[in-house]
Amino acid sequence: MKNGVLILDFGSQYTQLIARRVRELHVYSEIVPFHIGIDEISRRSPAALIFSGGPASVYADKAPRIGKEILDLQIPILGICYGLQLLALISGMKVQAAAEREYGLANLQVIQPSPLLKDFPDGCQVWMSHGDKITDFPKDFQITGRTANSEIAVLESVERRIYGVQFHPEVVHTPYGKELLANFLFGIARITADWSMENFIQSTKRNLQSRIGSEKVMLGLSGGVDSTVLALLLREAIGEQSIPVLIDTGLLRKNEFRDLMEMFRTKLKLPVIGEDAGKLFLASLRGVRSPEQKRKIIGHIFIEAFQEVEKRIGGVRFFAQGTLYPDVIESVSVKGPSATIKSHHNVGGLPKFLKWELIEPLRELFKDEVRELGKQLRLDEGFLHRHPFPGPGLAVRILGPVNAARVRKLQEADHILIEEIRRFGLYDCIWQAFAVLLPVRSVGVMGDERTYENAVVLRLVESHDGMTADWFPAPVEFLKTVSSRIVNEVKGINRVTYDLTSKPPGTIEWE
Ligand code: XMP
Repeated sequence: MKNGVLILDFGSQYTQLIARRVRELHVYSEIVPFHIGIDEISRRSPAALIFSGGPASVYADKAPRIGKEILDLQIPILGICYGLQLLALISGMKVQAAAEREYGLANLQVIQPSPLLKDFPDGCQVWMSHGDKITDFPKDFQITGRTANSEIAVLESVERRIYGVQFHPEVVHTPYGKELLANFLFGIARITADWSMENFIQSTKRNLQSRIGSEKVMLGLSGGVDSTVLALLLREAIGEQSIPVLIDTGLLRKNEFRDLMEMFRTKLKLPVIGEDAGKLFLASLRGVRSPEQKRKIIGHIFIEAFQEVEKRIGGVRFFAQGTLYPDVIESVSVKGPSATIKSHHNVGGLPKFLKWELIEPLRELFKDEVRELGKQLRLDEGFLHRHPFPGPGLAVRILGPVNAARVRKLQEADHILIEEIRRFGLYDCIWQAFAVLLPVRSVGVMGDERTYENAVVLRLVESHDGMTADWFPAPVEFLKTVSSRIVNEVKGINRVTYDLTSKPPGTIEWE
């Protein structure tokens, strides 16, 4: 990565944001755990390093550390928050543990000219994180910025090309943060801005062609944006050697399989193989209630279904899927393989017994970058802004046992919800919207009859990346319409409720 930046992750919640900001400046960036080792960093020869923030104090027990030998590589370094404290520590300064940490807005006073603060207006707002206190530093370091509560807000050694900021330039609350990052990348590290989607397409196509040669690739389509974009990219790279496959799990939205097949074949002219495995999925899920068990079973059945298709195609060497960077980061993050909240089966490789090699050409990209890529590959705007849909489908939205009757009930309610969302013009304001079928029944009255039927929950959320989310404050008129349509039109549902839980503490899906 001659012209790229390596971001060492020390556990900050903002590490992904740093990577995004750097890429927005057209510089390639990659996040690695802080402990990958100095040899590995040197082997990758990045043009610059950024140390992320982190929740620890550099003095805490088991605080993530890096050896001072990193400075011998003479690569320009920018330390952010915890990264600054750590830089200070390994550069031989005294750092005192702070009693507590504090976050908030502050104004940065520029006290000396600095290449990092070029064009940074004096007194401008920054998002501060007050950490440990640096009390003593060598002569070749200078303080160039401070705030009311922090004497050392910017510390630097121009000669050694080491810079540290106590605030977060990557967040929107630091309005000139991007300029600061640009100063570091272009003014200090002298990187050329050459990361663009066009370059990504060309270099990925070349890599795919040389890796795949004349072999066959089976591509797992989900109907979502990522795998569809991948199908178009693969077609450009290797033409008909790429065989896209869409599995009908029987757990898709109403008419989804039919509509998708139609779109792939007629609009996108992709020779998609459609595999109807609905019966197999339903039979395997019979009587299963546990969310984790459902996810595991579905993962296995997907593999079986792809194996079935392979029998017909023959000679598949590679399996391609549209894994994105956020999934990868989650699994390599400094927090380590965190306790499994949900088993997503698109990260973590293929089961060992399969002889296919995995290809994941989008694993360096963020969601908005995939949308940009899709745009360049002429995928239409409406499709690019489709809401995400989970691999396990409606099974994780049907609480309790999954069977054909319950799938149908949920499909009908969900269909009404999406129809009304579009009619009210809300689709593009929402990250995801769906109905969840509850395993409880409640008493109601319809006409003069007593009813005793199921309830559904409407789940509508706003989010930027699915990692955190807020419930969507839907207009009352819209809610009234959806609720009355569902109760009137869907047999077996007599109550509609609205989910008011953000993520965290909730997750977006119910299972
Ligand atoms: P949660 O429920 O974890 O979901 O807040 C975050 C985002 O991920 C989607 N999701 C999945 N996507 N396979 C997928 O491809 C899965 O197993 C899966 N589980 C959840 C979810 O819809 C949301 O957008």
